[in-house]
Amino acid sequence: MCGIVGYVGDRPCRDILFRGLRKLEYRGYDSAGISIISDGRFELLHSVGNLDNLEAILDQMAEAGTLGLAHTRWATHGRPSNENAHPHTDCTGRFAIVLNGIVENYLALRAALQAEGHEFTSDTDAEVAAHLIERAFRGSLQEAVAEAYRQMEGHFTCCAIAVDEPDVIVGIRKETPLVVGLGEGENYLASAIPAFLAETRSAIFPEDGEVVVVRRESVRLYDLEGLPVDREVQTIDWDEEAAEKSGYETFMLKEIHEQPTALADTLAERIGQDGEVVLDGLGLTPESIKEIRQIIVVACGTSYHAGLVGKYALERWARVPVEVEVASEFRYRDPVIGPDCLCIAVTQSGETADTLAAMRLARQAGARVLAVTNIVGSQATREADGVLFTRAGLEIGVAATKTFLTQVLVMLLLGLYFAEVRGHLTRKQVRSYSDELRNIPRLLGDYLADGAAEHVDEVARDYAFNRFFMCLGRNLSVPVAMEGALKLKEISYIPTDAYAAGEMKHGPIALLEEGSPVLVVATDSFVYDKLISNVQEVRARGARVIAVASEGNEALKEMVDEVFYVPRTDEMLAPLLAVVPLQLFAYYVAKNKGEKVDQPRNLAKTVTVE
Ligand code: AGP
Repeated sequence: MCGIVGYVGDRPCRDILFRGLRKLEYRGYDSAGISIISDGRFELLHSVGNLDNLEAILDQMAEAGTLGLAHTRWATHGRPSNENAHPHTDCTGRFAIVLNGIVENYLALRAALQAEGHEFTSDTDAEVAAHLIERAFRGSLQEAVAEAYRQMEGHFTCCAIAVDEPDVIVGIRKETPLVVGLGEGENYLASAIPAFLAETRSAIFPEDGEVVVVRRESVRLYDLEGLPVDREVQTIDWDEEAAEKSGYETFMLKEIHEQPTALADTLAERIGQDGEVVLDGLGLTPESIKEIRQIIVVACGTSYHAGLVGKYALERWARVPVEVEVASEFRYRDPVIGPDCLCIAVTQSGETADTLAAMRLARQAGARVLAVTNIVGSQATREADGVLFTRAGLEIGVAATKTFLTQVLVMLLLGLYFAEVRGHLTRKQVRSYSDELRNIPRLLGDYLADGAAEHVDEVARDYAFNRFFMCLGRNLSVPVAMEGALKLKEISYIPTDAYAAGEMKHGPIALLEEGSPVLVVATDSFVYDKLISNVQEVRARGARVIAVASEGNEALKEMVDEVFYVPRTDEMLAPLLAVVPLQLFAYYVAKNKGEKVDQPRNLAKTVTVE
């Protein structure tokens, strides 16, 4: 899950490529490099660590060249080092490549190439591409890249340049992202749109196995045999400002504060005049919805937690059984699914390898496949029968926040829609929920505008150096607690467990000692009293309890150490509010510990490898 940028045009491209990399830094930041063709030869620069280190040596590279490739890395094969940084070149120094993803048969290819005398300078899987292109080149980089592609197994995006053809970049993808940006007298290739959003909003999304040949004045696509392929040009509706911090200290804090807008945008045109739910792009008829006997939600990480909230809504409202599956397990478990099953893949990036594979598995078993994703043109939109977009806008912070909230919203809307279609909720009942949903963006906006962040920061200072945390919930607040725990783990690196509170006495309560911090999601619900007994249990073991509660619940103040009040709403909708103080708590614990919140160690925003 690296970031690739390519440019060909009239302008000196060193800084254009670097700016593009900066926009993709969330995809990987353990090493980086740039290669530019000028005066018939390559200029190459590598650095280890995040892009600050590459920026520090950028002036060692002549600015002149107008065609080049750049790469920011998330290591899979070979430690972060200058040797393993991309671009890689071949033995002759005439070809340079960058690659995102994994070449699964690289060991066999490497051995065969070495047997033919090729010398490798890195430990990466990716370097084989440079040597395969070198071996196949007969004057056409396009054909050489196509040949290399035929020999490489796995899922990857590879872009190549050649000093023998100094006016062309050739790119190709297999189940990992590649997008072409169309400019005036210049063109771009990239792993994701933000790399060129400041320059152009016109983009083409090549399919797997299509060879993209990019020149200053043209972009052509061909199949592996060299036959031309037509692809529609799409216009990206994100504004460039989306890729900036807009005055916030980090992208994560900005994105937490963008959640009211993200919810409002995701809700737009999805509640009709009469309060009914409208889901364009669903790809399911009312008849087929009535025939669904089972729903399987496949997802990873934060998206998995959004899927869990969806389970409660779909089962409670639409009375259809729902299994929520960790995609990396589901894909190898030989699950029992069939044509009467709907598979819902929740994935903000739309590129997560495990989730995509789970979608394909469900499809092969005859299930209908629905994607809930945030990215137009992503692979998930190609694998699904229907797509419901979360409209959170670009999310750059590696720790997902606004995309989680909009995923939860879409899952709730899906629950209401299915419930009415399957006759389990009346229009009047649906309207009462949709009316309340319409309030949520405003309630959340007021909550954030009313100094919520400052209050949470104050409390977090007192907890930032704890050795571990526990997050508890019951019913719908269990996935909220799980999401709060994941945020703490991801950005503060403090071990945090989340449990269904009723499970504590069956073991985890043994972890508690005097002063152990326990976060409890205690918003109003029909199991509130049960949760309060669990609060008493942990208090009795000396725990310090921080509760997330519904506004006006003054009594709780007496029973816990700190309370984060959130606006009151229906318990089924409460996850849309209750998770926000947990996002902020994780943020400020990490910040007070001095951690790099936007680029947590060992993580990347989009996980395109399994
Ligand atoms: C969440 O903060 C993480 N970035 C990670 O768990 C993420 O949710 C997971 O990798 C799934 O990503 P997706 O939604 O793009 O499929």
